[in-house]
Amino acid sequence: MMKILLVDGTMFGLKTGAILKQVAQYIQELNASYDIELMCFKDYQHQIVDGSPLNEDMKKMIQQFEEADAYIIATPIFQASIPGVLKNAFDFLHPKTMRYKPVSIVANGGTYQHHLVVENQLKPILDYFRALVTPNYVYTHTSHFDDNNNIVDEDVHQRLRELARVFEQYCEMSKTLPKETLDQH
Ligand SMILES: Cc1cc2nc3c(=O)[nH]c(=O)nc-3n(C[C@H](O)[C@H](O)[C@H](O)COP(=O)(O)O)c2cc1C
Repeated sequence: MMKILLVDGTMFGLKTGAILKQVAQYIQELNASYDIELMCFKDYQHQIVDGSPLNEDMKKMIQQFEEADAYIIATPIFQASIPGVLKNAFDFLHPKTMRYKPVSIVANGGTYQHHLVVENQLKPILDYFRALVTPNYVYTHTSHFDDNNNIVDEDVHQRLRELARVFEQYCEMSKTLPKETLDQH
């Protein structure tokens, strides 16, 4: 069974979690056979990558990343970048962890101007991992939500449905793509 890991990559804020829940629903509607798991960074005792022995939470986090077949990564924009805790989590992973596995990105910011953070900062990291990053991502803004963090913008819903549609196709495609490489890299 295809394991999809939804990564809420922040310790702080609720909108990334809200977007993930919506995406999970759209993916489930397309393909009910997927095993969808939510990883909330705020539930973990994070360690800085400094070479010291891993605590149980970091061991669990790494294992969840390794066992997943595909990912939706949700990030807020912090200081025109991704949160440090998300970069720190990536730094724990073996470079082959996400290789040839589908990844879609959803991001939320307080300004309209920071959507290219996804393009210029998050995508290059995922490219280094050789993940199958879908061509579409969704960037939301505070104004797309109501006071209970429900997404009220219909265009955002359509973009999330489209994201789910392409992501599901990538998941199906990746099933027949061997994760082992011919080269040694
Ligand atoms: C430390 C910090 C830095 C932030 N920097 C930016 C930023 O550079 N650009 C931006 O669009 N939003 C920025 N924001 C806004 C967050 O992206 C926004 O609060 C978050 O996505 C919404 O989460 P919430 O409403 O669920 O708390 C920042 C927020 C914090 C806490």
